[in-house]
Amino acid sequence: MKIGIIADIHLPKKERPPRPEPGKKPEPIPDDPTTAKVKAFYEKAKTENYDFVINLGDVVGNSGDADHDYMTASMFSRSMISSTVNTYHVLGNRDCMSFPKDLLLHCNETLGGAYWFKRDDTLFVALDANYSCDGTPYTKGFTDWTDSYIPEAQLDFLRKQLSGTDFKQAVVLCHQRLDLFMDGLEHVNPHVVSNAEEVRAIIEASDKVALVLQAHYHSGDDVVQNGIRYYTQPALFKKGVYSVLTIDENGISIEQETV
Ligand SMILES: [Fe+2]
Repeated sequence: MKIGIIADIHLPKKERPPRPEPGKKPEPIPDDPTTAKVKAFYEKAKTENYDFVINLGDVVGNSGDADHDYMTASMFSRSMISSTVNTYHVLGNRDCMSFPKDLLLHCNETLGGAYWFKRDDTLFVALDANYSCDGTPYTKGFTDWTDSYIPEAQLDFLRKQLSGTDFKQAVVLCHQRLDLFMDGLEHVNPHVVSNAEEVRAIIEASDKVALVLQAHYHSGDDVVQNGIRYYTQPALFKKGVYSVLTIDENGISIEQETV
């Protein structure tokens, strides 16, 4: 199984085409560099026959105009639907601050954007950390990305999914970081979910989690803590980096590539 991983696309505000002269069709606007990277990635996904793509969140870059971000995300969502490669979305803070969660995936009140799916003998569990630590979900206009939290209902959901017996290994997906990433000796870095310790306890207790895929920290990272690998996907908008996750009889491997 071959899976393409992208994150932090940060699509910019779409420019409006100049008004055409009377009787003439509008000229198409050339793609901005970020959109060109996304298109190049999906071309690759198609030609390399990826089984599916995981988008780890932050489709839009927050242009300061929420209506435009909504439109940009809608266009992205529509192009994903028409793509021949299926994409599983994980919600990022910028997504939830710009448009309703339902735009990219089906959500429910209790679990927000958390869901699971299974491919072959691997279980994937996506989490939604776009909540303030009092349990309030992010809404349009909210801006404090350092205040992220995974509510109790999702912790129960994760525990329940990982206690299943009909899969060999599990991969946990989250936009924000779940590993213990410190600023010096005193402070947990703000890219880490505020109750990540509780999530790690569930992951470590299950014995089934082979990998945690996360994003949000644009430079990327790759660490192993208490036997669990936490792979942070670098931002696509920066240097055009994506990853190819291969899961086969030899185990799990991740290669970074560039568009
Ligand atoms: Fe983010």
